Amino acid sequence: MNQTVIAIDGPAASGKGTVSKAISEKLQFNYLDTGKLYRAIGAKYLEGFAPITAAQNLNSNELDKYDLQKPEIAQAASEIALIPEVRAALLEFQRKFSQKTPGAVLDGRDIGTIVCPDAKIKIFLTASLEARAKRRYVELNKHDGKIRFETILDQIKERDERDQTRSSSPMVAASDSKIFDTSDLSITEAIEKVFSYIQEKI
Ligand code: C5P
Repeated sequence: MNQTVIAIDGPAASGKGTVSKAISEKLQFNYLDTGKLYRAIGAKYLEGFAPITAAQNLNSNELDKYDLQKPEIAQAASEIALIPEVRAALLEFQRKFSQKTPGAVLDGRDIGTIVCPDAKIKIFLTASLEARAKRRYVELNKHDGKIRFETILDQIKERDERDQTRSSSPMVAASDSKIFDTSDLSITEAIEKVFSYIQEKI
């Protein structure tokens, strides 16, 4: 039987992780942050492993092993995410996850377009570059007070461009997705808006 799948895509720091987690908790659905898969391969790549082999041998128990939030891992993730064989190797894991009962929320860049094109609900969260860089800056500064705002802004901009322009599964809102701009929303407001839309659709 097909489970209810909620696909939430969007660029870095659009709020999709926090919103997706909250929605999955409200609905008691399974939650997969697919960025973590790419970050785990990115981390392996930085350690010297071949990314395709690392993706083909991904052990989901290892997803919490690395400090995956580090900016250098995010950059490496967006580089290995360009490789079609890496994407293909991660596809089956994501699709299998999406069929878990009683339903699943997956967030990423290509969930509504490639991973789960039949998802019942598709959402694309976005926000201005400045708003997103500010959020990420505040978050990262809790751990490393030396990080500069301009550096974060440049890194997110570079990652956006790479994610949008790659030939294999570029980041794009699915034509049947509902777009939310979270630039001027608090996280609570963003969760409420998205959740009420989901309730209408479910
Ligand atoms: O979402 P997050 O910022 O953790 O993702 C890190 C990187 O992984 C993204 O910049 C993107 O290049 C890649 N990614 C992807 N497809 C996904 C999820 C993440 O290409 N579904």
